[in-house]
Amino acid sequence: MRIAVTGSIATDHLMTFPGRIADQLLADRLDHVSLSFLVDTLDIRDGGVAANIAYGLARLGHRPLLVGAAGADFAPYGQRLSALGVDISAVHISRTRHTARFLCTTDPDGNQIASFYPGAMTEAAGIDVAAAVRRGGGADLVVIGADDPEAMLRHTRGCRTEGMRFAADPAQQLARLDNAQIRELVEGADHLFTNQYERALLLTKTGWTTEEVLGRVRVWVTTFGAKGSRVERADEPALSITAVPTIEAADPTGVGDAFRAGYLAALATGDDAARCAQTGSALAAHALTCVGTQTYTTNPAHLSALTNAAYGSANLSGGETS
Ligand SMILES: Nc1ncnc2c1ncn2[C@@H]1O[C@H](COP(=O)(O)OP(=O)(O)OP(=O)(O)O)[C@@H](O)[C@H]1O
Ligand SMILES: [Mg+2]
Repeated sequence: MRIAVTGSIATDHLMTFPGRIADQLLADRLDHVSLSFLVDTLDIRDGGVAANIAYGLARLGHRPLLVGAAGADFAPYGQRLSALGVDISAVHISRTRHTARFLCTTDPDGNQIASFYPGAMTEAAGIDVAAAVRRGGGADLVVIGADDPEAMLRHTRGCRTEGMRFAADPAQQLARLDNAQIRELVEGADHLFTNQYERALLLTKTGWTTEEVLGRVRVWVTTFGAKGSRVERADEPALSITAVPTIEAADPTGVGDAFRAGYLAALATGDDAARCAQTGSALAAHALTCVGTQTYTTNPAHLSALTNAAYGSANLSGGETS
């Protein structure tokens, strides 16, 4: 089973300011703010949800097709992904805009000043996903991850029109999508992925009950952080999968994307839903111990050993029903 992953491609520029950001904001000078922080460290990390998920799939021996928009500065990033086994032939390269960039300065109290420049991502709506998938050799499932909202809608419509199976993973874009848009992204999805917060937001914004969502998607996977995950299908008992306890959590960023990569890799191998969620949980816990979203290493045997150690071997799996 081949997977195409659409969504954001970005780089994160993370800086640490040794003083206190709050001390720099003078209460009587807020009408004219001109601040420059002399920062101690700069950490540049490759990210973006589509690239993160594709990274994990490639590490697990798959050859995912990455579909998204980036700038000319994407070249070294793309080469690295390509060397790992990600097919980057469907990445649109903007002539004028840089790859999306997240710039964030954090102080020791955890206060942050951040900016997100979408850049080339605003051109993702120009991508014809069906044509991109055809050129890329076809796909059995298209993941529609957080991206330019117009692109997410266009890709979903494209999948529906072409009869291609798709997984809706709207994530942080749920906050800016309206009711009708969210309904359109979810309707007819093979899989729907949300975290706990996104689940509540989706239900509130659409006004749908859980059953009404389950009537529109084949499988709904919700992650609950350290509390694990849940797999739901209409007319079947929900499966609750415990998280794998992690000893040292180095960095929570991208843990949801690692979960999806593990889940989808298992799905592509033909595993049942419980095993998919267990595999996703094992990869997420492993990714938590590494700083950055594309820094963990793994391979099929390694992840299988981690999953077996946490949950027992595949033929004993089944998850708890709840
Ligand atoms: N502290 C933790 N210990 C062990 N496993 C964890 C922990 N946090 C998350 N996980 C695993 O990762 C999965 C996804 O976590 P979570 O629900 O926090 O995703 P998320 O909110 O989408 O994260 P993000 O968007 O920041 O990447 C969980 O279902 C669980 O399996
Ligand atoms: Mg997430």
